[in-house]
Amino acid sequence: MERILKFTLNGRPRIDAVPDNVLLLDYLREMIGLTGTKTGCDGGECGACTVLVDDHPRLSCLTLAATVAGRRVDTVESLGHDGRLSAVQRGFHEKLGSQCGYCTPGFIMASVGLLRRNPQPSDDDIREALGSNICRCTGYVKIIEAVKHAAALGREGVAP
Ligand code: FES
Ligand code: FES
Repeated sequence: MERILKFTLNGRPRIDAVPDNVLLLDYLREMIGLTGTKTGCDGGECGACTVLVDDHPRLSCLTLAATVAGRRVDTVESLGHDGRLSAVQRGFHEKLGSQCGYCTPGFIMASVGLLRRNPQPSDDDIREALGSNICRCTGYVKIIEAVKHAAALGREGVAP
């Protein structure tokens, strides 16, 4: 069975016919070509597939696309404007929060969600918000520094 899915994707209204059983991750990557969201474990354990639904992190590998009807979905492709990186993108770039980069879109979206809800998080807030994301390269310290740097950029008016 297919259904008509209406929702807001990266700030723009979107209408598509989607199978009832298609995952949001597969819809994004396979059906509409937004490959910034990564497939990692494909089982809810690594966070590589994290997107925002109404500003809250959601594992797109565990989410049916049909369940985002009427909601706002943001992927990593929504960030940065006019050739300028967003605060979180700059944080990861300038503080070396990314190495191989495979986990990075998931970490970035979880961090954007945190800073939208809590623009001045403590270190513990950051650790808790990123607790569902796994990185095999960085050791996490530089990721925490990246998010703190993004929060500082936010105080200068740069959007997360
Ligand atoms: S791919 Fe979704 S949590 Fe790993
Ligand atoms: S930068 Fe390689 S897994 Fe995180």
